[in-house]
Amino acid sequence: MSMSVGIDKIGLYIPQHYVDTEDLANARGVDPAKYLVGIGQEKMAIPLLEQDIIALAANAAKQILSPEDLEEIDQIIFATESSFDFSKASAIYLHDLLNIQPYAKSYEIKQACYGMTAGIQSACDYVQLRPQRKVLVVSADIARYGLNSSGEVTQGAGAVALLITANPRILAIQQESISVTSNQFDFWRPHYSDVALVDGHYSTQLYQELYVQVMERLELTNPTYLQTIKAMVFHLPFTKMGLKALNSYAQSESTHFDLEKKAALLNQWQAIYPATTVLNRQVGNLYTGSLYLSLISLLMFAEELTSGDVIGLFSYGSGAVAELITGIIQPQYLEMLNTNQIQAHFDRRTKLTIAEYEAIFNETLASNEEVLNVSDGTPGEGFYLKKIDAHRRYYDYKP
Ligand code: HMG
Repeated sequence: MSMSVGIDKIGLYIPQHYVDTEDLANARGVDPAKYLVGIGQEKMAIPLLEQDIIALAANAAKQILSPEDLEEIDQIIFATESSFDFSKASAIYLHDLLNIQPYAKSYEIKQACYGMTAGIQSACDYVQLRPQRKVLVVSADIARYGLNSSGEVTQGAGAVALLITANPRILAIQQESISVTSNQFDFWRPHYSDVALVDGHYSTQLYQELYVQVMERLELTNPTYLQTIKAMVFHLPFTKMGLKALNSYAQSESTHFDLEKKAALLNQWQAIYPATTVLNRQVGNLYTGSLYLSLISLLMFAEELTSGDVIGLFSYGSGAVAELITGIIQPQYLEMLNTNQIQAHFDRRTKLTIAEYEAIFNETLASNEEVLNVSDGTPGEGFYLKKIDAHRRYYDYKP
């Protein structure tokens, strides 16, 4: 039997500013209930220009890395779909900013919101063969659809950092997994666009179809294992999405699985589901990190969980790739999460007016030639982008 490998530490960074979706609804002439109930979002995290994906990721990872970790990390895997460079990997900046030992390797992974899951699996395989070593897997994204677009309320930003080790103290990742790939145009972002192109309703339909396809395959290939899953966590572009997927699965014709057992499982997953959405409702879409923000939410707020429980994690990336992976909760998961620190991180945030949010949204780098200088007076926090000069990005740290 192979040894236990998985998530030993989790770091989370959410920008300090947010928009209240009720304010947004009023500004857009929409019934607030549509955003709060129909979509299921209360707040939307808004990054400043100086909070690019490197700054977000470095702030998430810095919280969890001890001096020993910095020496024992062999790889930095950066999952993102908000990259600003087609060549140089964002992970190289992290390696430098975090002072990780020089013989580590650094690279970036892309497949829409699914990328982080591929990174975790690659990390687990590496550590399985080298149990003394560690891998840092980081996701950071800025979800942008545009002012006044139907996707606007599903924007968000932030980063999740996971330390993958042997004998993990939060979640042991299991080898069972079911993946699927389907060439689709539900959501994509060509290099010449700074906002996503999206066929919104089609994307929600495809997400549900791929969830059902994956679940039906699990019914066929490993029904005994399926029955052990205590809670189901989803990639959450908005918090109604996972519920829609569960409802679609409930309505699907399961010919390979006992219908009573299926109904009992779904009841259990639906009862736990609200706990998986608490944090995501306050942030919006993190793209690559959303599933793992939902995992943090589940671990913090689902009181019925105990160590040894099996969690299903449904990863979805438009384009499209989906995969169901599973993990087993470890005895020290709550103390390793540092829930008080996460709560304080959310409590420190301040609300923007819609006018302030729109001004920040429009403040993009005007051209590749532009030199950005962030003065010392700006409300930076932790790592931030200080300067772009001659196409080179420079970062600084504000304690
Ligand atoms: P929309 O078309 O403006 O909204 O945008 P709608 O008309 O479909 O309404 C949404 C829900 O609100 C509906 O509920 C309405 O009934 C309800 P549902 O039928 O779906 O259960 N509603 C109300 N509820 C209460 N009171 C009211 C009221 N009015 C309406 N007064 C849409 C919705 C999701 C299309 C849009 O926000 C969008 O395009 N978002 C971006 C795309 C997205 O998030 N897709 C999700 C699946 S794809 C994915 O997850 C991948 C992704 O993360 C990217 C990646 O992989 O990189 C996006």
